Amino acid sequence: MATTKSTPLSETDLEMLYLIHDAFRRDSERLTRVAEHGVPEDPATHDAVLLGWHGFSTTLHHHHTIEDEMFWPLMRTRLQDEPDDLEVLDAMEAEHALLDPSLAAVEEAFDDREHGPDVLAERLDTVVHTLRSHLAHEEKDALPLMARTITAREVQTLTKDAIRSVSRSELREATPYLFEGAPEDRTRRLLRQLPLPVRLLHRFWWNPQYRRVRRWE
Ligand SMILES: [Fe+2]
Repeated sequence: MATTKSTPLSETDLEMLYLIHDAFRRDSERLTRVAEHGVPEDPATHDAVLLGWHGFSTTLHHHHTIEDEMFWPLMRTRLQDEPDDLEVLDAMEAEHALLDPSLAAVEEAFDDREHGPDVLAERLDTVVHTLRSHLAHEEKDALPLMARTITAREVQTLTKDAIRSVSRSELREATPYLFEGAPEDRTRRLLRQLPLPVRLLHRFWWNPQYRRVRRWE
């Protein structure tokens, strides 16, 4: 298999991707609770659940777009003669494509106050199941493949490009979303990988603001 000459990826270089996956797993548990108990009637809790859902679904969508448009294409250029490895990337794209309509179906159920509650639990279960199996598949097959095909420097460049590809308001939401509930040492380590302005904005502005707003329960 073709490999690049410079330093291969370490677990630390991949840690940002694991942080992102862990944020989605955290919310998949919340989605399971909403599926079990339904969306509460009182307007404040209802809005909090919708706001939580919005953060989850938008960040997930951005993350998949970034992988499909930036990470997998670069890996494909190194794997042209490796059909089995290319199949892994095809599977990643196919699984992402499966998730989008399942997110839209939940969105529809939230919007339909009359019939939505009847189908919400089933649709949320589909999202949770599809997401969890996708994350597990990616971590088992695609991330080790990434570690073999692209370098630490390339991941840093892709991360910077990814940050530039989202709008300032999306970044303001996504950054505290991803770090919510993360252990302090991991947060400190990973924040250091972000550009200084993002780090400062997160620490003094975005994160305090994010924490003041009620989400989910
Ligand atoms: Fe993915």
